[in-house]
Amino acid sequence: MAEENRVVLKNLGKTDPESIDDYIDSGGYKAFRKVLGMEGKAIIDGLIASGLRGRGGAGFSTGMKNRFTSEACQKCENRYVVCNADEGEPGTFKDRVIMENDPHMFLEGMMIAARAINATRGFVYIRGEYALSVRRTQKALDDMKAKGLLGDNILGSGFSFDIEIKKGAGSYLCGEELTLLESLEGKRGYPRIKPPFPAEKGLWGSPTLVNNVETLACIPSIISNGAEWYRTMGTEKSPGTKIFTISGPVKRPGFYEVEMGTTLRTLVFDFAGGMQEGKIFRAALLGGAAGTFVDGSMLDTGMGYDLLKEKGATLGSGAIIVMDQGMSIWEMLNSILRFFAHESCGKCVPCRIGSKQLLLLMEQIKNNGADTEELCGRLLKQAEMMEKTSLCPLGQSHIMPVRTAVQYFPGLL
Ligand SMILES: Cc1cc2nc3c(=O)[nH]c(=O)nc-3n(C[C@H](O)[C@H](O)[C@H](O)COP(=O)(O)O)c2cc1C
Ligand code: SF4
Repeated sequence: MAEENRVVLKNLGKTDPESIDDYIDSGGYKAFRKVLGMEGKAIIDGLIASGLRGRGGAGFSTGMKNRFTSEACQKCENRYVVCNADEGEPGTFKDRVIMENDPHMFLEGMMIAARAINATRGFVYIRGEYALSVRRTQKALDDMKAKGLLGDNILGSGFSFDIEIKKGAGSYLCGEELTLLESLEGKRGYPRIKPPFPAEKGLWGSPTLVNNVETLACIPSIISNGAEWYRTMGTEKSPGTKIFTISGPVKRPGFYEVEMGTTLRTLVFDFAGGMQEGKIFRAALLGGAAGTFVDGSMLDTGMGYDLLKEKGATLGSGAIIVMDQGMSIWEMLNSILRFFAHESCGKCVPCRIGSKQLLLLMEQIKNNGADTEELCGRLLKQAEMMEKTSLCPLGQSHIMPVRTAVQYFPGLL
């Protein structure tokens, strides 16, 4: 059986998540101590060289984002690091695994990023339902303070930085980085127009680095072991490891940290143990609701950002929702579209009305067998129109599941 390659989850099951001493004994905060003696530019160059890409879904270069944030608005007094721990994408639970089992790992990554861009303050925006994640992250922050690893003049270095937790109230849209910043500022979770991006004008108008929990948790090992070491794992364009969360009728659903480029077949049939007794693989939804459907023809494709993109699919958050032959594509797509309609903030017409139109078309597809092909064509056109005209990325998300459902499963049967 293939083995996991645990980098982010290397301490899982070995250390007490509530003990900072355990974390330090396992080599924790060495990377942060190392960067206290480094120039910000050298830290950022190392991150760029590692090829690390954001694990929140978009896969943007983490090092480049650090560079943009550190170079923006030199006269600004404040610079922020925000950890996106909202984890609202259906089928995704990797950030929860990190926060509940090893909160210091991503907090150390956050400290390193703060040092790299010379940030003054940080926030962890955690979805409110994640009570244990909130409790363990807060305990970790209290323990860091007690050890002089957080606050004023950290370890006598002259560098000061503090981190606060903010709880989200359950809006999917608030996981989108600019909407998240609105929510952090205490406003209603409505999106902002991009550009400007957060790196340029983020929290309270200051340069802000927004990174996902898993992205930040990759950083300590990269700093300790070097960019070249990191590039020995994964693929050229998607280096390193990734935590995949597998659900559906497989024998061992759960989370698996493997090298990028591992095939879908290995993940589903090896790590997750294959299909449950009597079930036959039909499809997988990759990347959650905003992701893509694939069928068995994609089982031997490597799970990396570019490898999937070449074939019209997405890696997204790393969620893999498996479906068997007895499960209805129509039901799955309909539940995704209902979710999007529910989460639409209503600010712009294409998404507010368009998401309802898609649901009406889905009902017609269910009830009018004879016109299915024409109705699926209209469904696709409607989603394409929304992609072009919606104000924020949520209204642009419908197209991927709709296009791939129609492509792989004509008639949505
Ligand atoms: C509707 C929507 C919801 C999102 N939800 C999340 C989320 O829950 N967690 C997350 O890390 N990123 C989420 N994102 C992506 C963020 O906008 C952003 O790309 C990410 O936090 C950047 O971090 P990274 O570079 O480390 O991936 C969402 C995006 C959209 C459009
Ligand atoms: S696309 Fe949807 S979620 Fe985004 S602003 Fe428009 S209505 Fe709101």
